[in-house]
Amino acid sequence: MVLKRVLIVFNIVFLLNCFALIEANDDCVSQKKIVCYYASWSLYRIEEGQFNTEKIDSKLCTNIVYSFVGLNINLEIASLDTNADILNGGFYNMTQLKEQNPCLTVTLALGGWNEGSLKYSIMASNEESRQKFAEQALKFISYYGFDGLDLDWEYPTSRGGIAADKENFVALLKTIKSNFSPWGFKLSIAAGIDEQYYDIPEIVQHVDYVHLMAYDFISSTSNVTGLLAPFSLIKKGIDSWIKDGLPAEKLIMGVPTYARCFNLFATNDHGIGAPVNKTTCGGIWTDQDGFLSYYEVQQFLQTNSCKETVIVDDNVYSWCDDIWITYDNNNTVTTKAKYVIEADLGGVMIWSLDTDDFYGLFGEKYPLVTAIHDTLYPI
Ligand SMILES: *[C@@H]1O[C@H](CO)[C@@H](O)[C@H](O)[C@H]1NC(C)=O
Ligand SMILES: *[C@@H]1O[C@H](CO)[C@@H](O)[C@H](O)[C@H]1NC(C)=O
Ligand SMILES: *[C@@H]1O[C@H](CO)[C@@H](O)[C@H](O)[C@H]1NC(C)=O
Ligand SMILES: *[C@@H]1O[C@H](CO)[C@@H](O)[C@H](O)[C@H]1NC(C)=O
Repeated sequence: MVLKRVLIVFNIVFLLNCFALIEANDDCVSQKKIVCYYASWSLYRIEEGQFNTEKIDSKLCTNIVYSFVGLNINLEIASLDTNADILNGGFYNMTQLKEQNPCLTVTLALGGWNEGSLKYSIMASNEESRQKFAEQALKFISYYGFDGLDLDWEYPTSRGGIAADKENFVALLKTIKSNFSPWGFKLSIAAGIDEQYYDIPEIVQHVDYVHLMAYDFISSTSNVTGLLAPFSLIKKGIDSWIKDGLPAEKLIMGVPTYARCFNLFATNDHGIGAPVNKTTCGGIWTDQDGFLSYYEVQQFLQTNSCKETVIVDDNVYSWCDDIWITYDNNNTVTTKAKYVIEADLGGVMIWSLDTDDFYGLFGEKYPLVTAIHDTLYPI
């Protein structure tokens, strides 16, 4: 009897939840997207740098993209790190965030820089292997509870790829989409701002969103300093994608929460275009040459006597002795987010959650993602 009553109560609660869910999902449409990438390897960073899915504020993002999985020897989707993804519950935890935020969409990113291009080129080269891939991709993302796939092939036609990649990429997206559509799974791509790899009018017919990687305008192998994400060049790239056929509402503009650093050749030559020595600088917690997280940028500015920050083209550079860094701060990301509203783009993409100041080591938690969120959703 008691059990029965519990069950009835449970059922009512369950039904109410269903209505709440349906209503909530109606409220979820036609908002500006805040697409937050999560780099699964951030689990291995030391001390305060260590990130995991428990540190995610599921209310700050509309979408989370779990990155990355790769292609195995059979050109099927496979975990690149079963420890992080499966044993430590990365996949499971991430999809569970939807319990906290019913509007949240959680997708899985395939590819990334380290995966290269060759395997993708081979997989996409004929309809049989494209179809085989798409069927397995559908099984993989549904099995682990994701809402869709984000394809990060860097890049069709380059880095070991072939000229035919350009049209094969379109055919691949078409095949994936037709496999996904009956169940409503989402398909997005992460794309370089450089259009040469893409047949834009064809691509846009098959994807829900294009996550434009509007950063890395300077590489850590450059022999002179330069800005990471200068806004005039970004806007030029965005205009060009739109002119060439990408509907503005499908364009999600990327914003970095990391910095690039350089070792200056001469400490008194510290403008843009200043010669640099071999790069040995980098953040202590993230531990990668030429790279700092935003919390490491804050630490740099706080522990060094040279606190100067120069804003050029809505991007920032700072230097101290022979170290020169370039990044976005809370003011420049705000300017960029305002532009998304003005130009009525689809939203902002953030690479990545784990490099913002997620602990609030130097102030409030997630200063950059919060600045973007509060610009798109003023309180
Ligand atoms: C998943 O959640 C568990 C417990 O809530 C946590 O211990 C673990 O570190 C999380 N995994 C990842 C990869 O964040
Ligand atoms: C950069 O490298 C040159 C040549 O090795 C060296 O003379 C110079 O001192 C270095 N610059 C700095 C700021 O350390
Ligand atoms: C940097 O490299 C370019 C070629 O990649 C070269 O033309 C230029 O002189 C170099 N600049 C410096 C300061 O070494
Ligand atoms: C950026 O951060 C500074 C220092 O914390 C703060 O004074 C300023 O109001 C912030 N600006 C925005 C747009 O959030």
